[in-house]
Amino acid sequence: MLTTEQRDRFQRDGYIVIPNFKSADEIARLRARAGDIVDSFDPAESRAIFTTRDQAKASDAWFLGSDNTIRCFFEEEAFGPDGRLKQPKALSINKIGHAMHDLDPVFSSFSRSADLAELAGQLSLRNPVLLQSMYIFKQPHIGGEVTLHCDHTFLWTDPGSVVGFWFALEDATLENGCLWAVPGGHHQPVRQRFRRAPDGGTTFDALVDTPYPLDGEAPLEVSKGTLIVLHGTLPHRSGPNHSDHSRHAYSLHTIDASAAYPSDNWLQRSPSLPLRGFE
Ligand code: FE2
Repeated sequence: MLTTEQRDRFQRDGYIVIPNFKSADEIARLRARAGDIVDSFDPAESRAIFTTRDQAKASDAWFLGSDNTIRCFFEEEAFGPDGRLKQPKALSINKIGHAMHDLDPVFSSFSRSADLAELAGQLSLRNPVLLQSMYIFKQPHIGGEVTLHCDHTFLWTDPGSVVGFWFALEDATLENGCLWAVPGGHHQPVRQRFRRAPDGGTTFDALVDTPYPLDGEAPLEVSKGTLIVLHGTLPHRSGPNHSDHSRHAYSLHTIDASAAYPSDNWLQRSPSLPLRGFE
């Protein structure tokens, strides 16, 4: 399916863009399922995060507890000073994470399609296992930006092995907050490592003090159904969404099962939910 040129480009640029990878039907099924998950989500479960005095701690606990389950995360701007949602719940969720690909049949089949397994093989990924899934809404008007980072920072393995599969479930444009990437930036040393801290929270270790050079940074405007494959050390980001249109995307991360996985990574799979590959 991949041409030699695409494979070379992945090595050279750290990403490839593959239009029309997912069909309208597959996308419709995933969107409907994400809608169901949000419908059945009780905001009271996590509203406390925005009203408690120790917001950072509550927010960490909600996030860290999502590694073996399916949780909804609100946009930062979702609540007013009175603790009530400013917009309907369905327009207030930033993302769903982080184990849908193993716990939900619709997400599992989207994530384990034969063509995706074949693509992973063509990229020469060794023993890929599906580590993390995120359904990202990038809501109209309040969709927050995601600052420049690489995924290895968050999903550390030794040696580094994370690969991101980012599916556009709607057209992604400059207006609604498409991805941006720095071609070739995956050859840069990784700037930070995110991990669990001994106090029960999370922390970033600074590894390199200088920011990433941004020369050549390019917007990745893509149409619905496009797959963008991102090398784990590629710096990328996405802008805020000030438009009237959402920018739904689904993001799946794999790692090499034979790489060492640190015990202080934020995501710690329970032995009762072992990581699985594309099969
Ligand atoms: Fe990322």
